[in-house]
Amino acid sequence: MPETPTIEAGKTLIVYFSWSGNTRAVANIIQDLTGCDIVEIEVEEPYSSVYNEVTARARQELDNDIRPALVTRIENIDEYDTLIVGTPIWSSRLAPPVKSFLAKYNLTGKKIAPFCTHGGSGIAQSVNNIRSVCPNSEILQSLAISSSQAENSRSNVERWLRSIDLAE
Ligand SMILES: Cc1cc2nc3c(=O)[nH]c(=O)nc-3n(C[C@H](O)[C@H](O)[C@H](O)COP(=O)(O)O)c2cc1C
Repeated sequence: MPETPTIEAGKTLIVYFSWSGNTRAVANIIQDLTGCDIVEIEVEEPYSSVYNEVTARARQELDNDIRPALVTRIENIDEYDTLIVGTPIWSSRLAPPVKSFLAKYNLTGKKIAPFCTHGGSGIAQSVNNIRSVCPNSEILQSLAISSSQAENSRSNVERWLRSIDLAE
């Protein structure tokens, strides 16, 4: 008897940018819970580690829609049907490196599950920003984690993943 072919579920990629580690902490929890592939977005010209300097550059990039060049390249993006996209909230918006990433690929028809970490403003404009760069993607329910909760967000993350059918 031939084996019944199994329908392979589409693959999911976690992709995130993190300047001070909070978004990375949440991304790692998601990876731990799902076993998905994970990629950290890296810029060609790294951000300063000095808060005032990164704030100045962020504002300049955000206000002028500057999309910094990335080191990160994904060769096999077509293998993924869902992207879990993580960003810190910068001036109420999506961090520019994440915008660079999303704009670089044709994400038509893919699902995007946005998450952010923030210092109090919640998801703010970040999901709208994703929608405008990815008008032909399906944007799933988002998750906002406060920076102080990033390391302890496992149960919130798990609940969110279940609600969007990315965890059992
Ligand atoms: C340049 C910059 C701008 C920020 N703007 C906001 C903001 O508008 N609203 C907010 O709630 N937090 C803001 N924050 C705080 C970060 O969103 C928060 O600390 C986040 O968890 C950082 O994630 P990361 O550690 O992955 O970089 C800002 C931080 C930086 C560095």
